[in-house]
Amino acid sequence: MTDANAILSAMTISERRLKHTLGVAEAAKEIAKTHFPALDLKQVELAALMHDFTKEYPYERQLELCAKYSIELTDEERNNPKLLHAKTAAMIASERFSLSTEICNAIYWHTTGKPAMSPFEIVIYLADYIEEFREDASCVKLREFYKKALSKELDKSVALNKTLVKSFDTTIKHLISEEQTICKDTFEARNYYIDQLRAFNF
Ligand SMILES: [Fe+2]
Ligand SMILES: [Fe+2]
Repeated sequence: MTDANAILSAMTISERRLKHTLGVAEAAKEIAKTHFPALDLKQVELAALMHDFTKEYPYERQLELCAKYSIELTDEERNNPKLLHAKTAAMIASERFSLSTEICNAIYWHTTGKPAMSPFEIVIYLADYIEEFREDASCVKLREFYKKALSKELDKSVALNKTLVKSFDTTIKHLISEEQTICKDTFEARNYYIDQLRAFNF
């Protein structure tokens, strides 16, 4: 069975990304404990350790892996190398490390998010955004927003939903400011979680 050491010793990532990866593992376990206590924290850790496994692979290697694993790419993905690592890391998690479908899906969706994410998917998506070593202003702001929301809301799922909406808003605004295309999954995720909040009467 794959354990954390097997993944860590197979990893070829920079010190900086390793620090981020370990930060995601810690944040993911905290988010799981707070919102989804039934999740297996060992599995959460494996998903976190794998999520950026291929992030530093060159674009050509990403494309080779997509071909090898028959990953179909949209034009948008082909033109945005940043989107490919989530898919190739998910395939390696499945093929090389035999991690569960739930874990692989969480890795697959960690960059864009999507509507109706599973607990595993939410935990990895959000941990990637707010882990403590991320220093960009948008991540720092979202981390503070989440902490404040948790301390203010009686219902933790409202705090979580508000944070998810805020994360998608932040990403979409950033992409617009950079004159980049917006992935439809991110757009649909934002709409889905806004609707979820309305269901809570906000
Ligand atoms: Fe990533
Ligand atoms: Fe990441």
